[in-house]
Amino acid sequence: QPLEQVDDNKEFEDLLSSLPREKGFMSSSSYQYQGFWYPPSILQGVINFQKHFKPRENDIFIVTTPKAGTTWMRGIIYALMNREAHPPHTLHHPLLNNAPRDLVPFLEGIGSEYDSVCNSPDRNARIFATHIPLVSLPNSITASLSNCRVVYMCRDIKDNFVSFFHFANKSNLRSSPISLEDAFNSYCKGFSTAGPVWDQILGYWIESQKNPHKVLFMRYEEMKDEPKLQMRRLANFLETPFSQEEENSGLVDQIISLCSFESMTKVDVNKTENFLDGVTNSSFFRKGVVGDWKNCLTSDMASKLDQITEEKFRGSGLSL
Ligand code: A3P
Repeated sequence: QPLEQVDDNKEFEDLLSSLPREKGFMSSSSYQYQGFWYPPSILQGVINFQKHFKPRENDIFIVTTPKAGTTWMRGIIYALMNREAHPPHTLHHPLLNNAPRDLVPFLEGIGSEYDSVCNSPDRNARIFATHIPLVSLPNSITASLSNCRVVYMCRDIKDNFVSFFHFANKSNLRSSPISLEDAFNSYCKGFSTAGPVWDQILGYWIESQKNPHKVLFMRYEEMKDEPKLQMRRLANFLETPFSQEEENSGLVDQIISLCSFESMTKVDVNKTENFLDGVTNSSFFRKGVVGDWKNCLTSDMASKLDQITEEKFRGSGLSL
């Protein structure tokens, strides 16, 4: 083991023993760090990132609450940024042979292997996915002088919870299934990964209002409702607007279609049931619809989530 890693492990264990701990949502324990809760494996990724990550000039961070559509955004931004080398209608597009999480790595899940990531034509514009809250991003990323950008995506909290609940029970990270009631209570108290979900959303919402050129705030439902408009918004934000020629050729629709739930779930590699890092590729695809919470939550649960959302976002100008 390299010396640095041995030091890191010892430091991490010391840190864990000093942090508030609760019964976890995704794993047996959740630890609170800088105001947010994590399973130990993800927290280790956050610490690695804070210690070792060196941003490059144009890096792109897809930040989401877990289960808000990270996989979808990975596909969309990968296809958008690589559209010249890999036109979205081609039969050999990388998204037809690779799971989105293999093309756009999860920051908290890749150890310290950041430098080997090369997933856009500009080697200084790597694309990463993460759930790290704004307060835990290093200054080098958030400083207004840096050109790094954050594409933030969230989703109706009730759908988000339901998706997370199903995912928790599909993953290999828990030793036994969690009941809907336990998951719900844990989620409301904020113990889910990078929770409280409301605080994570609010942090990026406020930043997107202050620094709209650095943080683009997107919603799953808007992406479903008006994908073309949202694609243009995204392309403009990432300073790679669609040319008239691209618009005329139908490129925007091609990216939307390549990354649609229907297309992605037909790709063999996305059907894989083999566990990698405790989760299967197939577990990132379930229904892909808006409003599925109605099939899972009691009306009391729905009202409670609505009430917390109302209270947390009051005065912020944000409603979900
Ligand atoms: P559901 O469980 O509601 O179906 P994440 O990628 O952040 O883990 O989010 C997973 C959620 O996004 C799941 O929601 C999943 O089905 C949905 N999803 C995955 N790919 C999608 C796509 N291409 N379009 C729309 N939704 C997608």
